[in-house]
Amino acid sequence: EKGGYEHYMIKEIHEQPHALRQALSGRVGHGSVDLDVDLPEEYVRSLEEIQVVACGTSHHAGLYAARLLESHADVRTTVHVASEYGFTGGRDPSRTLVVAVTQSGETAETLGALRDAARVGARTLAVTNVVGSSVARAADESLYIRAGPEIGVAATKTFVSQVATLALLAVHVGRERGVLSAAAASELLGDVRGLPGAVQRALDADQQVRDVAEAYADSEAFFFIGRYLGHPVALEGALKLKEISYDHAEGFPAGELKHGPLALVTEETPVIAVLTEGARPDETLNSVKEAESRGAPVIGCHSDGHGEKFIDAAFEVPALGEMEPLVANVYMQLFAYHVANRKGRAIDKPRNLAKSVTVE
Ligand code: F6R
Repeated sequence: EKGGYEHYMIKEIHEQPHALRQALSGRVGHGSVDLDVDLPEEYVRSLEEIQVVACGTSHHAGLYAARLLESHADVRTTVHVASEYGFTGGRDPSRTLVVAVTQSGETAETLGALRDAARVGARTLAVTNVVGSSVARAADESLYIRAGPEIGVAATKTFVSQVATLALLAVHVGRERGVLSAAAASELLGDVRGLPGAVQRALDADQQVRDVAEAYADSEAFFFIGRYLGHPVALEGALKLKEISYDHAEGFPAGELKHGPLALVTEETPVIAVLTEGARPDETLNSVKEAESRGAPVIGCHSDGHGEKFIDAAFEVPALGEMEPLVANVYMQLFAYHVANRKGRAIDKPRNLAKSVTVE
């Protein structure tokens, strides 16, 4: 039931601190993690590549996680839209781990990609919310994100739960490979553990986000920008807004603004920027200035006062290292929700979309 909320989506947005606590429960130690997946140490040490396959929001979670895997576990990680995946030559399947990220565990293209990988001899891992789902059954191992049921068609709480769970995987792989020190692991784990509280602080600012969303709801288009860990969040912010509000929204790496999209930027197109740690705020600010000087309203999800002078509306992200962009994402979810709600959209069941896409 909706528990007093107007839509499942807003209920699920508010469930994020709880979902995160469930994802982390019993898994986080001091400088180490306990994931209950059978990945032999020898195999993890021999890994040459991790390939993430996923669609939509889960693909964005994969992009975020890939950065964490590369930097903390020192393993090349490629991220594939499942419908574009193919295991091409040149790689050793026995030294490749294929990770299928899927909330439902039923997405046909993700299942197909995982099966293709298994066929050539790669080990497969499902990262999913649904125990006993098709992808979980087809994979060698499963790692559950434990977000609880998600009813709204737009994925919200499962995105943050996916990234948090994959951050634990990065720590696990990094420790097993001997490339991540206990101190560095503790630091990342401390930030992950801080997520429920930091997300709650963003949720507590819901009224402020609503006011800003309503002020800009009738804009012509919306551009979301971010770098590094802010890039997948920009993509996710735009996807959320377009799918539930039907407004034109695009996300791209902040540096790309000047390579084309800037031609579309006017006073009628708000630019929503990730200006936090982990998202290269100083470089992103250059793009913010380009937009601002064309008269675009700038909405900044920022920590530590980054870009203050150039922001028309600011959402505060508490200090949380590489997890800060995930808190920015919560503001973007609320923003999308309030824009769509003001327009009276069918938020839990947007036109043309289904919760799980079981056809290719
Ligand atoms: C967006 C959304 C979709 C799904 C995609 C993959 O809000 O919900 O983009 O993320 O269809 O679904 P799963 O994760 O179930 O494989």
